[in-house]
Amino acid sequence: MTTRQAAKVHTNGKVKSFPAPSQLATPTDLTPKESQAITEALNPLVADLFALYVKTKNFHWHLAGSHFNDYHRLFDKQADQIFDAVDILAERVRRVGGTTIRSTSHINQLQTIEDDNNEFVPAGEMVRRLMEDNAHLAKAQREAHQVCERCRDVATASLLEVMIDESERRKWFLFEIVQGVNNTD
Ligand SMILES: [Fe+2]
Repeated sequence: MTTRQAAKVHTNGKVKSFPAPSQLATPTDLTPKESQAITEALNPLVADLFALYVKTKNFHWHLAGSHFNDYHRLFDKQADQIFDAVDILAERVRRVGGTTIRSTSHINQLQTIEDDNNEFVPAGEMVRRLMEDNAHLAKAQREAHQVCERCRDVATASLLEVMIDESERRKWFLFEIVQGVNNTD
């Protein structure tokens, strides 16, 4: 079996994130139950950040209309912020002893934010969809924060507090644009 075939077989099943193989089982004073709960709360967030990053870039690249310049820049700025959060959360999973995202198929297994493969999306609709996705992400981040608090992981809880604020800031900007689209356009 070639490496490529082996990879295919592997991705047909669910990718396991806990327990980590012994070489990757970072020592921690958290209990295995706590490490597992944190890993299982964070990995879907990492997958959603990847999914939202690609979606925001997709809209950055496929934008049309009179608001092109403003939205093109805004989407790029938001995409950068989303991408920066990926590594921070993925490395938290490693620090508490779990394993994190392995591949695009793994992202696909865990993401709760839907991909957008539409051929054309009007600019106002792009803003509305991203607003809903960022609201969804903020809610999921808040739920993961509760898991981290329950499991004594104050470090991840603290990072999530910043990320929730960032998601809500992105949502706020998009929401205000939606108000403008509804009222004046
Ligand atoms: Fe660009």
